[in-house]
Amino acid sequence: MPALACCVDAAVAPPGYAFTWNSSLPTPDTFSGAHPPTNTSAITTIDNSHWSPSSSAALYKIDCWGAPYFSVNSSGNISVQPYGTATLPHQEIDLMKVVKKASDPKSSGGLGLQLPLIVRFPDVLKNRLESLQSAFDFAIKGQGYESHYQGVYPVKCNQDRFVVEDIVKMGSQFRFGLEAGSKPELLLAMSCLCTGSPDALLICNGFKDAEYISLALVARKLLLNTVIVLEQEEELDLVIDLSRKLAVRPVIGVRAKLRTKHSGHFGSTSGEKGKFGLTTTQILRVVKQLEHSGMLDCLKLLHFHIGSQIPSTALLADGVGEAAQIYCELVRLGACMRVIDIGGGLGIDYDGSKSAESDISVSYGLEEYAAAVVQAVRFVCDRKSVKHPVICSESGRAIVSHHSILVFEAVSASVYDVPPMSTHGLQYLVQGLTEDGRADYLNLSNAANRGELDICLLYADQLKQRCVEQFKEGSLGIEQLAAVDGLCDFVSKSIGASNPIRTYNVNLSVFTSIPDFWGIGQLFPIIPIHRLDQRPGVSGVLSDLTCDSDGKIDKFIGGESSLPLHELEGDGGVSGSGGRYYLGMFLGGAYEEALGGVHNLFGGPSVVRVSQSDGPQSFAVTRAVPGPSCGDVLRVMQHEPELMFETLKHRAEEFVHDNDGMAHVSLASSLARSFRNMPYLVATSYCCSTAANGNNGYYNCNDDSYGTAVDSATGEDDQWMKLHEDCGISKFVTCGTGNYASGCNGLGLCGLLHVKDMKASV
Ligand SMILES: Cc1ncc(COP(=O)(O)O)c(C=O)c1O
Repeated sequence: MPALACCVDAAVAPPGYAFTWNSSLPTPDTFSGAHPPTNTSAITTIDNSHWSPSSSAALYKIDCWGAPYFSVNSSGNISVQPYGTATLPHQEIDLMKVVKKASDPKSSGGLGLQLPLIVRFPDVLKNRLESLQSAFDFAIKGQGYESHYQGVYPVKCNQDRFVVEDIVKMGSQFRFGLEAGSKPELLLAMSCLCTGSPDALLICNGFKDAEYISLALVARKLLLNTVIVLEQEEELDLVIDLSRKLAVRPVIGVRAKLRTKHSGHFGSTSGEKGKFGLTTTQILRVVKQLEHSGMLDCLKLLHFHIGSQIPSTALLADGVGEAAQIYCELVRLGACMRVIDIGGGLGIDYDGSKSAESDISVSYGLEEYAAAVVQAVRFVCDRKSVKHPVICSESGRAIVSHHSILVFEAVSASVYDVPPMSTHGLQYLVQGLTEDGRADYLNLSNAANRGELDICLLYADQLKQRCVEQFKEGSLGIEQLAAVDGLCDFVSKSIGASNPIRTYNVNLSVFTSIPDFWGIGQLFPIIPIHRLDQRPGVSGVLSDLTCDSDGKIDKFIGGESSLPLHELEGDGGVSGSGGRYYLGMFLGGAYEEALGGVHNLFGGPSVVRVSQSDGPQSFAVTRAVPGPSCGDVLRVMQHEPELMFETLKHRAEEFVHDNDGMAHVSLASSLARSFRNMPYLVATSYCCSTAANGNNGYYNCNDDSYGTAVDSATGEDDQWMKLHEDCGISKFVTCGTGNYASGCNGLGLCGLLHVKDMKASV
C-alpha cells in the first residue's frame, strides 16, 4: 500500500484564509511514500518492442469481422482491399491517405472537407454484389436447380443516389433490381431502373394507398418489371380497380406471414403475430378474389421476410421451406407463380464471432446462405413436382454494410493522473473539517498506516460525504472541496480501486451517425485507423458532442465496455495543432445514414467516394460532398438562415462601431461563415483568428482551409465537383469577406444551394 502523502494543488489556502495546524491530527507527513502510478508514467513506459501491426489486428479482431476487405498494413494503418480476396498488393488503399486527401486544407492539396467523414468504396459494393450472385450461381449449379437467382436491393438500407445507381449499374449483368417500401423510394427506384436491365425486378413492398399503387402501375406502363406485393388484404381492391382504370395488367405478389419465427431482435417482424404480411386465410381470400376478377394469372410472386440478421441457416431453411410449401399451394390453386422472394435477413458478422447466439453475428457466410436457400426451395418443389421458381432475395445489409467507413476524430481525453498534493493544501482541508470529519480523517490515516485498504476507501468516502454537506452549508470553501476530491482520488488509485477507463471526446454525434447504437444497442466494430503499429496504452469510452447522456459509446464488440486506445499526442485535435487521432466505424453502410437525426442540430458527415486506381496513390476520389452546414440543418427545422443572418447583420450595423466604421462588416462576414460551416468542431490550426485583422476576436474557419465545396481538379481520374464555378464562385468568396456581390445576401447562399444541388444532381 503506497502511503498517502498527498493533497491537491487546488487546496492551497486562498488569500485571506489563515489557518493553524491542529497538532492533535496526524500531519500529512505521516503519509510519506511513493505516489501511485499516474497515467503519464504508464504511457511513457509503454513498450512497443513486442508490438506489431498484426498484434493490433488480433487485438481488434480485424481479420474476423473485416476480411476480406480490411486489414492492417505495415505502416500501422487500416488498409482497404477493394476487390476482396482478388485485390493485388499494389491495389490496396491506405485509409489514412484517403482521410488526409479529404481533410487537408485546399492550400496543401487536400479537399478541405471537414470530419466526420464517410468514405465510400464502390469497388467493395461491386464485390459484395458479385459475391452474392456467385454464391447463388454456385449453389444453383451444384444442386442442379432449374431456374436462376435474381436479387433486388432494398433501397431503404441506403438510399444514397450514388449507392443505388452503382448497384443498378454494377448489377445490370445479373438482372439485379430494386425494392421500394414507400412512394419516394418507388420514385427513385423507377428512375434508376430506367438504366438497368429490362428484366430487373422492381418489387413494391410496404403499406400502399391509391397513389402508390397507381405509381407502380405506371411503372409497368414504362416497361419496368414491377411487382405489387400485397402487404395488406385491402390493397387488392385498389390494385384491381386502378389497374382496370389505367388499363395495365399488373403483376401481383403476396407477402406471407410465416409461422417460422426468429428470436433475435429483428425477428419481431416474423411469426403469426408479426406486423406484416397475409395470414393463410387472407391469402386464400386473395386467390379467390383474383380468380373472381379474372386476374389469378397476375399472381406470380410469393414474398416473405423473416427479419433482418437471420442467425443460422437452420432457421433460414425452416422459413424458406415453409414459404416454398405456400408457393406450391398457390401453384396448385391455379396462380401463375414464377418467383419466390425470400426477403432480407442475410446477416453480417459485426463482431467476427460467427455465432448464431448474438444479434450482431451470424453463423454462416454467403455460400452457406445461398446453399441453404436453394436446397430448401428445391426439396419442396421437387416433392410437389412444381417447376423451380426464380429465387429472389432482398438482401440489403449484406450488400451495403462493408462499402463505407465512418471516420471521426478523438479531440481530447479525460486525464487520468494524480495531481501533486501539497502539505499546505491538506492542512487547509483538515482545518476546515467538523469534529466528525476530523475523526474520519484520523481513521483514514490510521487505516493507511495499518495497510487496511478497504477501510481506507470507506473512510475516504465518508469524509467526502461530510465535506459535500459542509460545502452545501457554506462552511467549507471550494478549494477544500477540491482537496477532498483529490484525496479520495489518490486513495482509490493508491489501493487500485479507481476506474482507469478514460473518456475520449469524439467529434461526432452518435444520434446522427450511429443511430442504431443509441436506438437498439447495435454494436459496430470501432477501432483506431492508424498507429496500429503501436501498443494502445489506455482503455477508453467515446463521448460525443451532443449534450445528451446517451451520446456515448461504452459498449464494444466482444462484450467489452471499453476500447484499447492510444494516448492522444500533442494537445489533441481541437485545442491545438497536436497529432490527430482518427477512429473508424466499420460495417455501417446499411441503415445508419437514413436513420440518423439532427439532435443538437448536428448534421450528417462529409462524404467521399473512393475508387481503386492504378496511379501512385492507388486510389482516386471520384466524388466529394461536404456535410450539411449550420444553415442547412437550421433550415431542416424551419428556420430561415438568410433571415437570421439579415437580423444579425442589422444588429451589428446598429451596435458594433469602431474608428473606421468597418467592424460590423467583418463581423457580418464572420457570421456568414458560421452559417456556412459544418456544425462540428474544427481544430484551431484549421481556423484563422480574424481577431488579428481587427474582428473582435471572432474565430471561424478559413474558406481556404475548410470550404463548403470542393473546387479543384487535381488528378486524372478525379471528377471533382466544380460547385463554385457552377454558381459563379466569385460571389461565394466575396460573401465570405463581407464584400457582397450583387444578388448575394452575404451569407453565401449561392454556395449552400449548390452544395444541395450537387447532392441531387451531379
Ligand atoms: C421487406 C424487407 N425486405 C428486405 C429487408 C432488408 O433486410 P436485410 O437488410 O436484412 O437484408 C427488410 C429489412 O428489414 C425488409 O423489411
